[in-house]
Amino acid sequence: MSSNNFGQSNVINAVKHSSLPISSYNILAFLTQEEEDMPSMRRGKHILVLGASGRLGSQVVQQALDASYHVTILVRNDRSLPFSRRQLKDPNLVICVGSIFSRIDLDRVIEGQDAVINCLSPRTLWTSDIKLNSRAQRLINESMVKFDVKRLIIVRCHGTPTIDSFFTRLLSNKVYHDKKVQEKLIMENSEFLDWTIIRVGGLSNGKLTKKYLLLDNDEIVFKKVSRADVAHFILKEIGTGMWVKQAPLINGKV
Ligand SMILES: NC(=O)c1ccc[n+]([C@@H]2O[C@H](COP(=O)([O-])OP(=O)(O)OC[C@H]3O[C@@H](n4cnc5c(N)ncnc54)[C@H](OP(=O)(O)O)[C@@H]3O)[C@@H](O)[C@H]2O)c1
Repeated sequence: MSSNNFGQSNVINAVKHSSLPISSYNILAFLTQEEEDMPSMRRGKHILVLGASGRLGSQVVQQALDASYHVTILVRNDRSLPFSRRQLKDPNLVICVGSIFSRIDLDRVIEGQDAVINCLSPRTLWTSDIKLNSRAQRLINESMVKFDVKRLIIVRCHGTPTIDSFFTRLLSNKVYHDKKVQEKLIMENSEFLDWTIIRVGGLSNGKLTKKYLLLDNDEIVFKKVSRADVAHFILKEIGTGMWVKQAPLINGKV
């Protein structure tokens, strides 16, 4: 395991990201194997994953390592990370222990990256971290601007929360509101950031199917999509940049 408590440099040299033209149409299928193997489709190979110990973040990390990305993660605790022994020993994985609320820690992991994948989410609804997304995003933006790292991908809920219990709804509304603030912060930096905001109706822990529907409009009933499939899309998107400055809605196979 390449674990780093910032005692030594964790900076990785990276190739600068450049985006493909923005698409304005719906797509269902993805790259063929030949296209995936084309060098032009494999840009952005150095990525930072925030929230890597979580359910979506860990899927991104696992699939990225399988695809030979150089993956840096910033975690508050490196014990019991949800990765296999093989993945933990992967020389392409750099594990940094630090705080997402520290500009110093963020600077150290963001410098030299091609893309930042933000999968952070408050662990429980009744936590002081309820504004985690906006607090962290503000600092992440500053650091990305400082180090000229443009590519950012986040995931957000589409529509208002539909949780039944009054108290849970109240609290999840707060998280939802904070996601809106996070998004506003990204939009304020839109001239600089090559963002993609992935909208989901709901996430499941289902299998990787590689079959999901992407829409650039709201004309469909939500169907839960597995975190594994969202991770799959995130990695495709890093390679293609098809949805830069767009907010595609991702649905599981109907
Ligand atoms: N859950 C849904 O149905 C849903 C719906 C729409 C969008 N989303 C979005 O999808 C993304 C992933 O969601 P998920 O359900 O897969 O997440 P998750 O499993 O709950 O993981 C949350 C991650 O955030 C980290 N985190 C929480 N508080 C932190 C703190 N104070 N400092 C550092 N790290 C902290 C956790 O780290 P620790 O392991 O250290 O706690 C964990 O890695 C999020 O951006 C979420 O907003 C989720």
